Amino acid sequence: VKGNAGSLRKYQILRQQGLMPSKQLPTALIIGVKKGGTRALLEFLRLHPAIRAAGSEVHFFDHHYIKGFHWYRHRMPPTLSTQITMEKTPSYFVTSEVPRRVQRMNPAMKLILVVRDPVTRAISDYTQVKSKRTNMPKFEDLAFLNGSKIVDTTWVPLKIGVYARHLERWLQYFPLSQFLFVSGERLIVDPVAEITRVQDFLGLKRVICEKHFYFNATKGFPCLLKSEERPTPHCLGKNKGRSHPYIDPVAIQRLRDFYRPFNQRFYQLTGMDFGWS
Ligand code: A3P
Repeated sequence: VKGNAGSLRKYQILRQQGLMPSKQLPTALIIGVKKGGTRALLEFLRLHPAIRAAGSEVHFFDHHYIKGFHWYRHRMPPTLSTQITMEKTPSYFVTSEVPRRVQRMNPAMKLILVVRDPVTRAISDYTQVKSKRTNMPKFEDLAFLNGSKIVDTTWVPLKIGVYARHLERWLQYFPLSQFLFVSGERLIVDPVAEITRVQDFLGLKRVICEKHFYFNATKGFPCLLKSEERPTPHCLGKNKGRSHPYIDPVAIQRLRDFYRPFNQRFYQLTGMDFGWS
């Protein structure tokens, strides 16, 4: 490219025609929810030749917004004009300034949200924190106020699970038609069904199918036969699909009762019943 004016011109033409890869801002985001299965979803989607995604969480709209769109674009992998640029940052869903910022950048943004039973999600979140900390209090002691039966709604792992509230905020900026809601539970038992919905939503050919997956009985999760990064069968990392600690069933029931009206509202807003009891 540096060589002479002729080759520079050729490069510019190829780029204009979309035949030379270049970095683009994302047109689709996986906005959450934390511990919903966001890594699995992204890794599965990366099997599609028309999808290019940033590997790690970019946190542009929450932590790095001040750095501007130029910084954001440079975090993205190069794409051809036929490819979609994506990224996933699960904290976007619950951060209040994010919907307005996303809308300002691209009002046509496609928004994908993977949700999971909020009680299991909270336990998964707790398990993650516990794995990095010594002397972590019991889940039951954090979820309820001073040993009472009152749910501590200010405890972040519980706050995140009030999906209806967060979604209502997003719906002030984007129509429902720009969202796709993925069931985290179905992503485990029938990954192809959920990935097919995502491919359709993104307007892509159904390329990702049964032949890409196998069920790893030891891990208890669907894993990939091969991917862009690895040509051999592999599962997600050790920190995905961890076993959870024992939680008092009475505490679980109380949390189910707490979430029930919010879940119902979420089903109403999305027009989907996720089957969390
Ligand atoms: P657990 O580790 O609690 O089981 P995220 O990537 O958003 O942090 O979500 C992590 C969760 O993804 C895991 O939570 C796990 O249940 C879920 N998951 C979905 N499909 C998976 C898969 N194929 N392999 C591993 N974990 C998967």
